[in-house]
Amino acid sequence: MNYGPLVFLTAFVALSASWFGFVLTPQIQIGRLTESTNTLNTAELYPKARPGQAAQGLQVYRANGCAACHTQQTVQEGTSIDVYLLEVGTNAAAVATALVNANVGFTRIDDPGFFLNLPKNILPGTTIEAAKRAFKGAQSAGAKAQIRINPQGPDIARHWGVRGSVAADYLFDQPVMLGSQRVGPDLSNVGARLPDVNWHLLHLYAPQQVVKGSLMPPHRFLFNVSKAGQHPSPDALQVPPEVAPAPGYEVVPKPEALALAAYLVSLNSSTPVFETPMTLASSATSTNSPAK
Ligand code: HEC
Repeated sequence: MNYGPLVFLTAFVALSASWFGFVLTPQIQIGRLTESTNTLNTAELYPKARPGQAAQGLQVYRANGCAACHTQQTVQEGTSIDVYLLEVGTNAAAVATALVNANVGFTRIDDPGFFLNLPKNILPGTTIEAAKRAFKGAQSAGAKAQIRINPQGPDIARHWGVRGSVAADYLFDQPVMLGSQRVGPDLSNVGARLPDVNWHLLHLYAPQQVVKGSLMPPHRFLFNVSKAGQHPSPDALQVPPEVAPAPGYEVVPKPEALALAAYLVSLNSSTPVFETPMTLASSATSTNSPAK
């Protein structure tokens, strides 16, 4: 019997199925991502291309194998929703009645202390439906309320990021340094956490001096130790005495170290984007309409 057509057909189906799955579908989903105003609560463009030095720093990061110990992907497992009462308005009794009528778990609110110490989280960890009912009830009774959406997950609890990573975060990175092992912390938002270039330079030069008991290997080869001479370099690093070079010598970061530090402070994924709705701490004092 001639199996030729069957073998051909099987191979064809297998190959085209993987082409659809691995090439076409991702292309349709994220192939046309651009720098855009896909952001929430702000007109900021996101993501922005990294400045030149930071873009070079990505190559230093790659060349030194930082991705062997560090990931750049914050995982988000869900969101929790809170309702904050910001201002009670002129008629506290009406607000109390409206909140009870909203059927969100209040049977009666007769404690006058309920409306003290605003803004206050009156419905922690609620559902979006209940949050919308409470919000509308409070607004209609003349109070000001806000629904806050908080990303949740172990990485976010560790303060590695404020939201989960999305495809747009990597738009300008070539290659993307996702990493898979977490010997050290996730770095997808390290620029927001540690925005000081000098912190990073000293940490690269002598991690144990900056973080007690750090397991990160020092990267001294990214620095030159040279004679200070008549005119000390303006870039010279201030190092603690334990790791200082011999008197008269100074530690000067090489261009690679400066680029790497610029790259690290550019790693910032705190902008809220459409895919990961959340309420920013800075907007927490203004009133928001309920999330759609
Ligand atoms: C052998 C594993 C290892 C390698 C390789 C490594 N690190 Fe680390 N890194 C760690 C550990 C462990 C920590 C946590 C202790 C500390 O902060 O020093 C850390 C911490 C950090 C921090 C501070 C993060 C924070 O949130 O406190 C930064 C920034 C960092 N590393 C950058 C780098 C860069 C850039 C490279 C490549 C040049 C690199 N690391 C290579 C293990 C590593």
